[in-house]
Amino acid sequence: MRRSGRTISMDTEMPVHKKRIAALASGRGSNFQAVIDAIAAGDIPAICTGLITDNPQAHAIERARAVGVPVTVIDYANFSTKAAYEEMLLAAMRNCRADLFVLAGYMRILGPAIVHEFSGRMMNIHPALLPAFAGLNAQQQAIEYGVKVAGCTVHIVDEGMDTGPIVIQRCVPVLPDDDESSLADRILAEEHTALPLAVKLFCEDRLEITDRRVRIR
Ligand code: GAR
Repeated sequence: MRRSGRTISMDTEMPVHKKRIAALASGRGSNFQAVIDAIAAGDIPAICTGLITDNPQAHAIERARAVGVPVTVIDYANFSTKAAYEEMLLAAMRNCRADLFVLAGYMRILGPAIVHEFSGRMMNIHPALLPAFAGLNAQQQAIEYGVKVAGCTVHIVDEGMDTGPIVIQRCVPVLPDDDESSLADRILAEEHTALPLAVKLFCEDRLEITDRRVRIR
């Protein structure tokens, strides 16, 4: 645009609509950290509205507090039934008013009421190339099976255990002298790339899910 001999540049950038994300974590929280770092760096168009944990000792709590993310602790040990625990969890999740819930090292299987309510809006990171080695101790399972390639998977959560549609997988070699710990470290480095990327794609509305297949636009 030209006015009185001066060139005025028009700002053509569209305002970015930020999604609201919240996380569930049970422990160390390094994957949660990778996601909040990517948000802080401007790589993910989102705000983090909460961290929910089932473990009062989880290091993820300190990571959340350090950046002002509200924390809800629902200590699993205080409940006599899984149903009672999940009732509180569901209320806490609703309270986050999140578009997406990121399961970042959340070590429990979610019940059908929660999976149904947030269907298509929950992502989990698993330290194996699913469908191989679902469940606990995935890295040890990979070592014992003798696979030559391992890795991580980010998937949408469904009612099964680590069975939902796959968003991203990244692989690493399994080396002859690997033990569970060395393999877990190598996989974890890839998790820290895979999870923020999957969250970013969700927040940019770039995931299209048809049956089991996730297409990235
Ligand atoms: C990660 O390796 C994650 O993939 C795994 O727990 C670890 C949590 O680390 N999750 C599962 O095994 C879920 N079935 P972090 O707390 O440092 O993110």
